[in-house]
Amino acid sequence: MKNLWARKSIIDLQNEANDHGLAKTLGARALVLLGIGAIIGAGLFSITGSAAANNAGPAVSISFIIAAVACAFAGLCYAEFASMIPVAGSAYTYSYATMGEFIAWIIGWDLVLEYAVGAATVAISWSRYLAKFVEYYNIHLPPQLTLSPWETMTLADGSVVSGLLNLPAVFIVVAMSLLLIRGTKESAMVNGVIVALKVVVVLIFIALGWGYINTDNYTPFIPENTGAFGHFGWSGIVRAAGVIFFAYIGFDAVSTAAQEAKNPKRDMPIGILVSLVICTVLYILFAHVMTGVANYTEYQGADGIAPVAVAIEHMGSLNAAGKFVLAYPWLNKAIILAILAGYSSVIMVMLMGQSRVFFSMSKDGLLPKVFSDVHPKFGTPSKSNLLFMVFVSLFAAFVPATVVGEMTSIGTLLAFVLVCAGIIVLRKTQPDLPRAFKTPLVPLIPILGIVSCLAMMYSLSGETWLRLIIWLAIGVLIYFKYGAKHSKLKKANQEKNSSN
Ligand code: ALA
Repeated sequence: MKNLWARKSIIDLQNEANDHGLAKTLGARALVLLGIGAIIGAGLFSITGSAAANNAGPAVSISFIIAAVACAFAGLCYAEFASMIPVAGSAYTYSYATMGEFIAWIIGWDLVLEYAVGAATVAISWSRYLAKFVEYYNIHLPPQLTLSPWETMTLADGSVVSGLLNLPAVFIVVAMSLLLIRGTKESAMVNGVIVALKVVVVLIFIALGWGYINTDNYTPFIPENTGAFGHFGWSGIVRAAGVIFFAYIGFDAVSTAAQEAKNPKRDMPIGILVSLVICTVLYILFAHVMTGVANYTEYQGADGIAPVAVAIEHMGSLNAAGKFVLAYPWLNKAIILAILAGYSSVIMVMLMGQSRVFFSMSKDGLLPKVFSDVHPKFGTPSKSNLLFMVFVSLFAAFVPATVVGEMTSIGTLLAFVLVCAGIIVLRKTQPDLPRAFKTPLVPLIPILGIVSCLAMMYSLSGETWLRLIIWLAIGVLIYFKYGAKHSKLKKANQEKNSSN
């Protein structure tokens, strides 16, 4: 029982950081791009519209600021840990050093929700956009092969077909996994190209849309609350912040690349914080344009590409004959292309984060060794990548997106809470350890991080909480059946005690 709370020493962890076999190839720029690669995705393109229509109105820009501030609190704490303990386990390892093995296990297990389940969720969305994109070229993918068995689609002739498996979702998971196996440097290069493409498209949308903003759409800026919590007014703004939090997930994934960074002490904080700042600015401008070109009520019922399409449909003017002419009819296609590319990099970085967290857990003996075997030539945890390729593919092929939607958010928020708490613990227990990057105003910033993340968790549905609890209960069972028995720290402590 005592081992449940046993902590790993920071000095041991710092030694481990250099002794692992993973290739060190990433500089500051690659880390920033990795962060942006993981961050910009479904959250921005799909959720912004519905959060404006259902919760916040034009004030969804304020929600983006609130969520960004909460992420910044957590991001500053991640930056301190990642520069001090540059180990691939991220929140798992930080918890091992501060709160003991059991909490660390819980958080490592919880991160599967963020990374593996998150990757599957985004892969399912990717498949939808692919189907939409090829339709522009009159290619119609059979719904049986693009939907899970639990989903149905009504065809033009009124007949209803159910899915068999989501093949494009499997395809993108396999493609990204193979790229990851090939090498971290190669993956980072592909990620760089994708990030450039998606950032350019987001900038084009903002620049072109700006000229079509109708300031009438900003009145009222905060629509009056309907009487129900979360439906407009200030409670709506907070609720929308919880919903669009998903859009920011990913900056923390940078910390899982710590062991592959050339100079983690300096570059980890840069990767985490700069990617977060860049995306925050883009998000606020994007939301401002979306709610400026069209009235927020017009985003009602629009999901998928539709919210952005609604905005683009408002960018145009009347011609001489009094007919409304779209200014940028090609923009829809460009946005879908950015979404397809953008989601691929989100999936890639999530899959990478997942294999790195399990890499650390396996190194500590809490998971089988197969998760920390490094490919002799590619320098990547290839067997782990393959196992997750299968696991995430099964998920993506057979599970509908709605089931896993909010689970990624709640799992990530829980990790953020513990990382913030860990900073407070470590400043108390080991105040003198050298820290390459220091979170400012401790304990205020971590406390604000904890409170804001808990508030966002609170705003998620009861069902999501139940799923989280069931998932963690399964994790606890596996810990006692496997992890607790094979823990290397436990063995080391036992040896120490018997020699005393
Ligand atoms: N932030 C990522 C997205 O929005 C997870 O897709």
